[in-house]
Amino acid sequence: MGRLRKACGVAWVALCIPLLPYTVYFYELTAWKLFGEEFYRARYGPSREPVIEIFGGKAFIRFSDVQARLSDMDEAARRGDIVRRNWLGPAMLASDVFVDGVFALGLDYSNHTSFRPWMDSTLWGVHKKWSRAGVEEAAEKFISGKKHLSLPKDFKEFGVQIIATNWLGLRVPEEFDAAEFTGFFQDFRLQLGMAPEWMFQIPGMAYLSGWIQDRNAKYVKAISDALARHHPHTPPEHIMRFSANALDAMATAGGLSIGEIGARVVAALWDKIGDLGAEDFRLNSTNVDNVILETIRLFPAVTNIAYERLRPFVNSDGTVASDVLGREILAIGPILHDPELWGLDAMEFRLRGQSAYEAERGFLAFGGHGNRSCPGADLALETLRALFLALEKRSWKVKGTGNVSFWGYGTFPFTIELQ
Ligand code: HEM
Repeated sequence: MGRLRKACGVAWVALCIPLLPYTVYFYELTAWKLFGEEFYRARYGPSREPVIEIFGGKAFIRFSDVQARLSDMDEAARRGDIVRRNWLGPAMLASDVFVDGVFALGLDYSNHTSFRPWMDSTLWGVHKKWSRAGVEEAAEKFISGKKHLSLPKDFKEFGVQIIATNWLGLRVPEEFDAAEFTGFFQDFRLQLGMAPEWMFQIPGMAYLSGWIQDRNAKYVKAISDALARHHPHTPPEHIMRFSANALDAMATAGGLSIGEIGARVVAALWDKIGDLGAEDFRLNSTNVDNVILETIRLFPAVTNIAYERLRPFVNSDGTVASDVLGREILAIGPILHDPELWGLDAMEFRLRGQSAYEAERGFLAFGGHGNRSCPGADLALETLRALFLALEKRSWKVKGTGNVSFWGYGTFPFTIELQ
């Protein structure tokens, strides 16, 4: 048994070695923090070169350059390979509906402009499909039954559950089991999405990718059944496509980010970093947003946005701003830490006041204000706010002694005990 386990361990490590460059490139938690930011500072210091070469692409590291590109994601820009490929293959979802698998994040410009309005109209504004009261009630219920929370895992489960129930109207757990979803599927889908194409020729890997595809289809079907109930006049092929987009929001975007940011807030509170260490600091409904936004700024969930530029970038006045073609990276992480934007205490946790995050720079953590910015930002803030206010009603502590260890922009997994 011991030998078998050892052999499995060796096989797993061997399998991971070729994956390493991809993991380093895409693991948002650490890539910029461990390599990008230090590299940039050491090499360019205060000279603020507009573009640096890193991770096999040209990275824009000045706020104005990033801002211009974020607000103008047009047909000249195609999403990075991995984002486009994270679907793991085409799927026949119903006898007459074939989803080629390119979900929300990877949609090309023309498809994106037709599907994005659905996400916007259902996630925020007057027609949004979720309510503050619904999210608060779910958070109270989730926290009240718990004696332990494993983070970020349990917050990921909660984030996915909120998206499924409060946004998409899925019945839980009959139609959708958030624990099962975050158990294996979510991680596998993300990790395997990073694998190069040749890896799927290996028999075990081919089986795994088939398994993910089957699950993709199963979840898209469950979501589309729920959406068909709530949007009876929308054509089925649109419902299927919306569902595929919504699955992306659960499996990657919000499904991962809510859990990760939630864990970082808890870690920052426990470690009493920066202003959270003040003797009179107590988390309450007045400062909770500020704590969340400063955590997202200092420990962002998405630290770079990668895509491929097919034609030169053109300024709003029609002049060609740059003739850089090929892979471009918008260096969100370093900009959220840039002293020119945030002051000399940019690397400190400061309660900067709500207005600091109201300007566009403050929304960089949610992808800025462009047509690719996060449509779930309001729901994410509401979910995190409700979670922490419910948690503050209980007494809690981090299991073990000492602080939570941060690693790159994120933390190592940890457990909290609730009284
Ligand atoms: C703390 C939580 C969250 C953070 C920090 C976050 C951050 C971001 C960022 C930076 C982007 C742009 C990424 C890119 O262009 O590559 C993005 C896109 C996106 N987010 Fe979020 N997000 C969060 C929560 C959510 C939630 C709760 C949902 C859904 C309910 C969601 C759905 C999406 C979708 C669908 C996109 C793709 C939008 C598009 O390409 O048009 N996110 N998010």
